[in-house]
Amino acid sequence: MDRMRIGTAAEEAAAQARAMERLRIRFSGQDPSYHITTLGCQMNAHDSEKLAGILQTIGFHEEAEEQADLVVYNTCCVRENAELKVYGRLGYLKGYKRRNPDKRIVLCGCMMQEDVVIDKIRTSYPWVDLVFGTHNLYRFAELLEEMYNEKGQLIDIWQEAGEIVEDLPTLRKNSFKASVNIMFGCNNFCTYCIVPYVRGRERSRKPDDILAEIRELAASGVREIELLGQNVNSYGKGLDEPVSFAWLLYRVSEIPGIDRIRFMTSHPKDLSDELISAMRDCPKVCPHFHLPLQSGSSRLLGRMNRHYDKEQYLALVDKLRAAVPEIALTTDIIVGFPGETEEDFNETLDVVRRVRFDNAFTFIYSRRVGTPAASYPDQIPEAEAKAHFDRLLEVLAEGMNERNSRLIGRTLMVLAESTNSHDDRMLTGRSEGNYLVHFEGTPDQIGQIVPVEIDCQKTYYLIGHPVSEGKNSLHG
Ligand code: 5AD
Ligand code: SF4
Repeated sequence: MDRMRIGTAAEEAAAQARAMERLRIRFSGQDPSYHITTLGCQMNAHDSEKLAGILQTIGFHEEAEEQADLVVYNTCCVRENAELKVYGRLGYLKGYKRRNPDKRIVLCGCMMQEDVVIDKIRTSYPWVDLVFGTHNLYRFAELLEEMYNEKGQLIDIWQEAGEIVEDLPTLRKNSFKASVNIMFGCNNFCTYCIVPYVRGRERSRKPDDILAEIRELAASGVREIELLGQNVNSYGKGLDEPVSFAWLLYRVSEIPGIDRIRFMTSHPKDLSDELISAMRDCPKVCPHFHLPLQSGSSRLLGRMNRHYDKEQYLALVDKLRAAVPEIALTTDIIVGFPGETEEDFNETLDVVRRVRFDNAFTFIYSRRVGTPAASYPDQIPEAEAKAHFDRLLEVLAEGMNERNSRLIGRTLMVLAESTNSHDDRMLTGRSEGNYLVHFEGTPDQIGQIVPVEIDCQKTYYLIGHPVSEGKNSLHG
């Protein structure tokens, strides 16, 4: 089914507002409840904030999954495990629904953009009430209305994105830190990756819309902004009046009230000197760069369609460290890509040893139907990939321990984000370099930037104690 909308973006936003109002009246006095489970990346997490914003505008409140009147799964399909998790949960959901036939089940997100998934839901999960994809998420209110008005399963998947619809209500997880989409989709077609097929082509939001959103967030007390896109380095290229990502960083830096600016993700092939200069020159831009490596083997990087080789990657690292000496570098690495030999894997270990990353997301290659690499004949046996994965973690940990050790005795500025889940006398936060830091503190400090002297390091996190500002302070 492909029912593309016909209105302009502004008309569509107005139609959603009207649908929310009708639903609000319909549910008034009933105190309806919802539960959203989010799988996958920050992009999905932010989409879920929009879904929650719409539901709360209608009058829904959050509730545990078992009791909630409306259960939403915002899905991911980057790796097979994320999909298996959803199929696993669907069994439980069927049980809930049997006990309470009025309960409604909604599936949305990246996985729903795959034809095989939709066929399966249609035939094997007819009790799922509403299914939609990534391109029509903004229509959630109208889709809900349709679901409540009609009997049977409602599936609405668009093959392509329309214009970007602005001004949806958003329920932010935190009051002091917020994600802001700057672009959607990806044009890169790395041969292992399904994202370009499910998120569509690159589309940038207009700078005025982004800046207005950030000004509003700053006025409401937000201090840290994370700019989100699959490849932020190509932000602005397709706009009627093209601008660069570095230009946007300078503009966001000018907004009073915003103390920290982060961004995710940068493709190494598009990392410009202009962006490196912006990192150096804008004190609000955090000294942290996430630069996905994927593999250290130039041969495999070619087969992955990444458009850079090992030497070019290492040269970028040198440039970043020359411009911002204390910069924290993090990365994504895949092991077990089709055709990966011991020699290829050793090239990856070589890069990891040379760079000494501050943190990394590591993945075992997952075969995604529809991507070019899925049909490569030389798939790697799982046991071999797992052995590489374990060795990779060991070598990454060596570098992280070394990098973390330099921080002991120094003071980091930490944005306190939550009470520590294991010890409620401790707070957990992030330093400018995005290090995870645990320190003694009280809940009233959540949302504040606290100077913390680092006492010890545990590879994946640091432990410290609060101090008065200034001593040995470091932008780390
Ligand atoms: N298998 C394993 N990892 C993958 N990623 C993307 N596609 C796959 C896949 N098929 C990883 C990449 C990317 C991150 C978001 O997910 O490392 O940078
Ligand atoms: Fe996937 Fe590559 Fe696009 Fe990242 S840049 S989303 S890995 S295709």
